[in-house]
Amino acid sequence: MNSSAARVMGHRGVPSLAPENTLGGFIKAIELGARWLELDVTLLGDLTPVVHHDNSLDRCSDGSGLLSQLALKDLDNINNAALFPDWPFEPVPTLKDVLVLLMQKGVGLNLEIKRHQFSSALISQIVVDQLLQHFLSDKLVVSSFDVEVLAECLRLAPEIPRGLICSRLPSDWQSLALELELTSIHCDGRYLNQAQTLAIKDQGYRLFCWTINDALLADRLWGWGIDGLMTDYVQDFIHYYDDQ
Ligand code: G3P
Ligand code: MG
Repeated sequence: MNSSAARVMGHRGVPSLAPENTLGGFIKAIELGARWLELDVTLLGDLTPVVHHDNSLDRCSDGSGLLSQLALKDLDNINNAALFPDWPFEPVPTLKDVLVLLMQKGVGLNLEIKRHQFSSALISQIVVDQLLQHFLSDKLVVSSFDVEVLAECLRLAPEIPRGLICSRLPSDWQSLALELELTSIHCDGRYLNQAQTLAIKDQGYRLFCWTINDALLADRLWGWGIDGLMTDYVQDFIHYYDDQ
């Protein structure tokens, strides 16, 4: 991963301005200048991988119910832009549709795997298959809070970079990083300290922070030497790119 191209990642797109985890939202983030996007993938009950944060439709759409109890055809008339009343209809996108869009746009992808109640083996296999078919780019990292998912990804496709997401940096992060052959650590920026930042960088890992919406916090983290951040406000942070 080229760190200078990964400085600012739109978190679920640009959810301060557009519906999160939707094709239209991703296009909006890209139009604002995002060169990398963080987004979440999970499975429907029929095992279709879809881009969605929650395990239910309730928060973001005009529908309801658990994704694990729905099939792709059940989503036909579900509008996932319910939090933006003036925004046109947006479906819950399939992972494939998003991968095709980001490949066309040349945008980097930080794909967070949220397994919810599915097994790590099943969701990892399905997601890795999709990436190998539809996202032939070196601007890619798969990330997860779930160590089992990362272990499966390592087994299935060691060539795809892996990032461990954590809230507070776990005390055993170095052994996890070795075991999972991580390339990056993704920390909640509120809890990270300078000593941890230096340790992670000294060990040769990339360090990304989420979800950074505050300029003072961003400046402190950049000053310590993080490689990038995920933000809901691409429009406010885009100036952090090296070449802008
Ligand atoms: O990738 C980091 C961040 O997205 C993790 O939190 O809940 O927004 O997916 P969440
Ligand atoms: Mg996420």
